Amino acid sequence: MIMQLVHRVVLALLLIQATAHALSLAKPGCQERCGNVVIPYPFGVGADCFSNETFAIACNSSFSPAKPFLRAINMEVLEISLQGTIRVNNPISTSNCPNRPDSTLKMDMSKTPFSFSDSQSKFTAMGCNNLALINGKDVETGGCTSFCNSSWRPSTCYGINCCQTRIPPSLKVIDVSLTSIYTSKGAESCKRAFVVEQDWFANLTNPFDVHFMENVPVVLDWTANATCKNFTERYIKDQYETVCACGWGSEGNPYLVNGCQDIDECVDGSVKCTYPYVCVNTPGGYDCFQPNKSSKRARAATIGGFTALLFLLAGVWWSYKRIEAKKLQENEKFYGGLLLQQLSSEEVEIATDISNENETYLEL
Ligand SMILES: *[C@@H]1O[C@H](CO)[C@@H](O)[C@H](O)[C@H]1NC(C)=O
Ligand SMILES: *[C@@H]1O[C@H](CO)[C@@H](O)[C@H](O)[C@H]1NC(C)=O
Ligand SMILES: *[C@@H]1O[C@H](CO)[C@@H](O)[C@H](O)[C@H]1NC(C)=O
Ligand SMILES: *[C@@H]1O[C@H](CO)[C@@H](O)[C@H](O)[C@H]1NC(C)=O
Ligand SMILES: *[C@@H]1O[C@H](CO)[C@@H](O)[C@H](O)[C@H]1NC(C)=O
Ligand SMILES: *[C@@H]1O[C@H](CO)[C@@H](O)[C@H](O)[C@H]1NC(C)=O
Repeated sequence: MIMQLVHRVVLALLLIQATAHALSLAKPGCQERCGNVVIPYPFGVGADCFSNETFAIACNSSFSPAKPFLRAINMEVLEISLQGTIRVNNPISTSNCPNRPDSTLKMDMSKTPFSFSDSQSKFTAMGCNNLALINGKDVETGGCTSFCNSSWRPSTCYGINCCQTRIPPSLKVIDVSLTSIYTSKGAESCKRAFVVEQDWFANLTNPFDVHFMENVPVVLDWTANATCKNFTERYIKDQYETVCACGWGSEGNPYLVNGCQDIDECVDGSVKCTYPYVCVNTPGGYDCFQPNKSSKRARAATIGGFTALLFLLAGVWWSYKRIEAKKLQENEKFYGGLLLQQLSSEEVEIATDISNENETYLEL
């Protein structure tokens, strides 16, 4: 009788959870997207929607669609990932280029939790006779040189008319300078330099398409000094940043209270149980079990959700499954004698109990 009651309560809870399943990555009551960009917490549009001022997003609706800007560094946001990266549009440095005023890429993110992602972004320079340097805080931190050859075909970036180099880890300050390697020839040529998302750049069929652009996408790392919320893990992404992640088998936003929800593997089609076994979602995973006669009962049990109580119930499920196994064993000698031996006397009692109440078990 008690078993039956517990089951009814749990199934009711599961139903409540299932109806509340629609996942939002923004803080409750806050704008979920700006234009085409999803804005997950700790980022947010408007007061009380971000975790602190450095994650404030300004959504400018004078563009169509609206464009989000990261206020702390005043850059257009292209994509925010909860894995600790953000793609922004960053300006190109130019010198002596036709129809273009000279401009310098100058950024100081030293008081923010942002830095250039050294694994996903590269410093790139274009032009002939170009000595392009990355200057950090009063020190040169890197750079590359590109040499001239007019018969060079514009499809590669290996040092002739175009060069690339890695950037130092955790680079927060950048001030690009463009000068000539030698003064004799090509000193007046058009020169460019920028930090760019490497995958994006490699995807360009012609890297010189960049000539017609004012901004290129770059990937920044971010880290939030947050305590990771329920069912989440904190892990070290790179050497310098820690990020939160939803626990195994769950998804959502680990920076929000109750932001992570169990993935229903049975519904998303990622797993399949072979007949006569039926898929049942569990916290962090799933189970294949054999329904008792009526498949309607099994369906009732597949409604997924995530409840701490389910952990408690996992034990009950086990007992149930073992009983199934026991029945199988009796009928078909399928599992051998092992499982029965493992059943303690207490479990055998529960087993008998459930067998007696079989008719109502799992019914709503
Ligand atoms: C939105 O963008 C336009 C065009 O760049 C600019 O003139 C305007 O000041 C921006 N509005 C806000 C609220 O930042
Ligand atoms: C320019 O490149 C071509 C092949 O790409 C090469 O044959 C030629 O020698 C190079 N010229 C100079 C001046 O380096
Ligand atoms: C580069 O191209 C591949 C294949 O077309 C695509 O999957 C990937 O998303 C592209 N990467 C970027 C950054 O555009
Ligand atoms: C991070 O949070 C802890 C406690 O919440 C605080 O003591 C520490 O000063 C914070 N660090 C930064 C860099 O904000
Ligand atoms: C906001 O959070 C970032 C990242 O944890 C931290 O570096 C910064 O000091 C915080 N700013 C304020 C004003 O608390
Ligand atoms: C999640 O954490 C909050 C506070 O951190 C707590 O109030 C809430 O009960 C927790 N939820 C679950 C399902 O554990």
